[in-house]
Amino acid sequence: MLIIANWKAYVEDLDRAKELIATSKKLARSSESVLVIAPSAPFLGLFAVGNKSKVTFAVQDISATPGGAKTGEVTASAASAVGATYAIVGHSERRALGDTNETITEKLSHAFAQGLTPILCIGEHKRDTEGWYLNFVREQIVSALSALTPRERARVIIAYEPIWAIGKSADQSIQPHDLTEMILYIRKVLAELLPGKNASHTQVVYGGAVETGNIRALAGESRVDGFLIGHASIDPKTFSALVQEIS
Ligand code: PGA
Repeated sequence: MLIIANWKAYVEDLDRAKELIATSKKLARSSESVLVIAPSAPFLGLFAVGNKSKVTFAVQDISATPGGAKTGEVTASAASAVGATYAIVGHSERRALGDTNETITEKLSHAFAQGLTPILCIGEHKRDTEGWYLNFVREQIVSALSALTPRERARVIIAYEPIWAIGKSADQSIQPHDLTEMILYIRKVLAELLPGKNASHTQVVYGGAVETGNIRALAGESRVDGFLIGHASIDPKTFSALVQEIS
């Protein structure tokens, strides 16, 4: 399983960050899962440089520009230089701050140009009975991947994160059978865009209120490849419990 810990802006204290990294390294040694930590940019620079452990790192977002006079931007190149392996692209919290399908396309191409594997976040705002949310998700996938080469399309990791579940508790999260359906649907859409119409190698992970109370049920039924975990990833004990639940 691929487990991505998205610290968002929750972890601001250096000692807390160090404790979480130490816990993650220890977990990575004994777990079969691949652990990816996505700290804030300053902590990414601190912990990813020279990292020799089994833990790998993601940058939480990258700039839509390749660099230059852009105060405050974190470019794919800078993230790669400090040791990031992955880049989260199109998180709903970034989309809410202005990321469009066009800027997401830009970000994906910068990620690839710098050797970062993108984790593309998609997900609907709400569910409806007519299935409009399916069209919404399809549109997000098609628009993000269309500009990429066939080889790049096959390398994007998809993180399905319904916005209505993000930041909630396990009992308000997606139900396992709904996740199963959604993973199948996403793979069907992906297959239309991939070489050989084969999406079986694409990693599709789930995010949105993943907690110790639901991770095992979600993992068990849905054939999901892993999880993108926000609030439950920022406490060492909870994060350990989550990783152990699915090991
Ligand atoms: P959550 O966030 O686990 O706190 O719901 C997931 C995410 O936004 O990536």
